[in-house]
Amino acid sequence: MEGTPQDIDRVVSNQRSLLETIPEMVLLVNNNHWVEYMNPSAKNFFGDLCRQVINDDPLNQNTLSELLKIVAKTIQENKVGAPLETAFGQSHIEYTLAPFRGYNDDSLYWFFIRDLTDYKKQLDELSSFHNNIETILSHKINELKESERTRQKLASELNSLKEHLKEQPAEGKMVGSSRALSEMRSMVFQVAKSDATILITGESGTGKELVANLIRESSNRNDKPFLKINCNTINDSLLESDLFGHEKGAFTGADSKRKGKFEVVDGGTIFLDEIGDISPRMQAALLRVLQDGDIIRVGGNSPTKIDVRVIAATNLDLALMVQNGTFRLDLYYRLNIINISIPPLRERKEDIIDLTTHFIRKYRQAFKREINFLPQSILDRLLLHNWPGNVRELENVIQRAVLMAKNNMITENELFFDTQPGNNNQTPQKNYLQRIDGRTLKDMVADFEKDIILYSLEKNHGNVPQTVKQLNIGKTAFYDKMKRHSISPKTLK
Ligand SMILES: Nc1ncnc2c1ncn2[C@@H]1O[C@H](COP(=O)(O)OP(=O)(O)OP(=O)(O)O)[C@@H](O)[C@H]1O
Ligand SMILES: [Mg+2]
Repeated sequence: MEGTPQDIDRVVSNQRSLLETIPEMVLLVNNNHWVEYMNPSAKNFFGDLCRQVINDDPLNQNTLSELLKIVAKTIQENKVGAPLETAFGQSHIEYTLAPFRGYNDDSLYWFFIRDLTDYKKQLDELSSFHNNIETILSHKINELKESERTRQKLASELNSLKEHLKEQPAEGKMVGSSRALSEMRSMVFQVAKSDATILITGESGTGKELVANLIRESSNRNDKPFLKINCNTINDSLLESDLFGHEKGAFTGADSKRKGKFEVVDGGTIFLDEIGDISPRMQAALLRVLQDGDIIRVGGNSPTKIDVRVIAATNLDLALMVQNGTFRLDLYYRLNIINISIPPLRERKEDIIDLTTHFIRKYRQAFKREINFLPQSILDRLLLHNWPGNVRELENVIQRAVLMAKNNMITENELFFDTQPGNNNQTPQKNYLQRIDGRTLKDMVADFEKDIILYSLEKNHGNVPQTVKQLNIGKTAFYDKMKRHSISPKTLK
């Protein structure tokens, strides 16, 4: 240091007064780790340790030895200038080491120390507060997530419920807004409440069973039993005893008296489907029910009163059958008190759009498909077709299309009609049934086989390999069959 002794004294005294007043703690330590100087803040914190070696005071001993350890370590590691931090007893300090050349040119060290205890405490408090907040927030976030999950679950339940509700009323409902169907619908509701016998007529697949269900649902007997009997599936004697019951010993196997369906359903409704197929004997028994309101059990002779409403359905022309003598006129009159005739689909093409939408919705839900688009070209094709299989055919076409559709749209590729456009009014199935009379099963199966081969070849424009593939039959076997049925693919091109 240069200058006059007065200059030096002035600087030293200025330094000293600075050191005496600042809140930071300052220590001057010599090479032997003796504390040469402590400012008041330092003394206040550590006690006066100036020029002390470890003495007898245990508190002082601890403080001093702890401080000297820090001093020694820092000097040894020469960590000059960088603020360091350490715990000191219960406190926490930050200290910085700086070299100081002494008045006698000896090497000394300044220790600038700050007590960070309060600051640390505040930091800890802040961090624990922060942690608390974090915990609270994460709880809250979890709660929110949970309630969001609940909300989503409820929303999805609500959606599926909505879907469900949207679908529910449509099920079993007569879809269609054509004039013919509207008139028929209002007739159904008009006659349902009476107990009158109703004959439902219409081609196959027009919805006769659906109408029977509607009549019963809208009748006063809607909470009473409802029995459906398909007259063409049960053989004559069984059907009779099944319907009217039998007395003990009425026929072989009749070990005991048994109530028939008419008696069991007493008070309710019986739906006799395919009524055109019942035998003359059954026709007589049924006439009795409708005329006198009683039945006679098979093998019995006393009548039993019953209260059953009869709904019958057929796709045959009963009037024609009466003319041919295959259906009783008196029964026909009794059945035909009220006739609900369902027009074929080709006569009410306005219904095709409604029905198509209805079936898309039904099968979209059933097959979990997202079909929501039906190109106009497809609709045009549906409108062009003349639907010999009626609503059932349309339902089949749509069901297949929805199942096979690739994206959210039905295309030409998924459109397969059950019947060729321009076919006659009856489904092929009904054609066969009407051609049953007097023919052997073998002949009928052969006929059916021939028709399938012709139909498939026609569809494939006479292409045999393609037809063989579609029908999944061996080529040789197929040629054999063609020969047997005298079919030449050339004529079908
Ligand atoms: N208007 C309609 N609305 C909705 N579905 C209909 C309608 N008409 C018919 N269907 C449906 O078409 C299918 C055929 O109907 P249904 O069985 O009642 O015909 P059907 O006249 O009794 O035929 P079949 O003479 O061959 O017994 C059923 O799945 C039915 O639900
Ligand atoms: Mg039916």
